[in-house]
Amino acid sequence: MRLKIVLLFSLCLLLARNSSIAGEVSSPDNNLGATTRPDHIILTWTDDPKTTQTISWRAVTGTDNGSIRFYEAATSASTVTAAASVKLFRAERGDAQGSFKLLTVTLSGLKPGARYNYIPVAGEIEGEAHSFMTEPAVEPSFSFLLFGDSQSGKKDNPDYKPWQKTVSAAWAGNPDARFIMNAGDLVETGQDIRHWNNWLDAAAEAIASVPEMPVEGNHETYNVSDTPSKPSYLTELFPVFQNGPEGLKGQVYSFDYGNAHFSVLDSQEDEEAPKNGSILGKQVLWLEKDLSSTTKSFKIVLFHKTPYFNKAKRNNELIKAAFCPVAEKYHADVVFNGHDHCLARTFPVRDGKFSSKPDEGTVYYICGRSGAKFYTDSVMREGDEFFFNPKDQTCYLRIDVSKSVLSIKAFSADGTLLDTYSLTK
Ligand SMILES: [Fe+2]
Repeated sequence: MRLKIVLLFSLCLLLARNSSIAGEVSSPDNNLGATTRPDHIILTWTDDPKTTQTISWRAVTGTDNGSIRFYEAATSASTVTAAASVKLFRAERGDAQGSFKLLTVTLSGLKPGARYNYIPVAGEIEGEAHSFMTEPAVEPSFSFLLFGDSQSGKKDNPDYKPWQKTVSAAWAGNPDARFIMNAGDLVETGQDIRHWNNWLDAAAEAIASVPEMPVEGNHETYNVSDTPSKPSYLTELFPVFQNGPEGLKGQVYSFDYGNAHFSVLDSQEDEEAPKNGSILGKQVLWLEKDLSSTTKSFKIVLFHKTPYFNKAKRNNELIKAAFCPVAEKYHADVVFNGHDHCLARTFPVRDGKFSSKPDEGTVYYICGRSGAKFYTDSVMREGDEFFFNPKDQTCYLRIDVSKSVLSIKAFSADGTLLDTYSLTK
């Protein structure tokens, strides 16, 4: 009898232990915060903004299917269901271990200039309802928001409250903005999902309502050991136009909106070249073709590492030598950069010569900072027409593009106007 009790006790202990292990495997932490309800809704464009809209969201790993339920807001049209593609996102590079499902749909055949209401679905569980608007067939003027580095500043502390405050203020103050862009270093550690989770929570309302078109920065390439690699988390989370050069699709792309052409480049030669070879030559060829073939009145180029730097010690000479001659040859109106966390605008420049006339050169504009990190060693340089170091609070840009005028306004998060610049054609 006593032996039977001991055996029974041992069996109970074994079962309890196994049950504990099984419990860990199905722990919500392994889904990295994802639940059965869709969240982290992201709008981007992968095709024509007039007739398509790409929507992504996440849910727990057990999700096998999903869809977008949508209808045109101004009509009594019935709801349409578009099936999502579902893929597994794995965080396994030393950051928070786990996985979730990424769901993506590109809605097509939409009516230009129409607002659509939509609900993302995972399995049969609906997420929050939102709406988006397609680009009008003729867009005489539009605006977009542009943010400098939103990174937390500390890889072990993914704090995106300053970014949340900035993007919330910008979105609340500019509800007519058609889309959002970030000029790189969105997060501190691009290959650590904890940073993206907090970044996406912070920007949730805005990027479920208008597309977020990112620019890759050096921090998007870093893992928890600060070893650079391909920025795969960025490109997995934000599907964009796949029209860049081979090997850089998702990191380099271009698109049109209204009267403007946007060319997005990858300035992370130092981080990516050691493993993958130089990334500059193929981008120069691509940019030549891209800028020479556009018929849009305004050409806007974006890349992260600024060729006209303001920090005390910088050396982006390789980037400057590769990208600037092409941007200036085809007279890009503005090149937007990040990296230095200050606001700085050069006079129009061509081949190193500064001018006061916009038709004689390209303006280089550093977008400030929208996150926690700021520098104290940035200074105004020769060739700068405007400089401001936003040490006290974050800032953002609003850019308006009409048929003949491109205007840039820089605001601090509290709404104070810091800079205004416009050029007319
Ligand atoms: Fe940077």
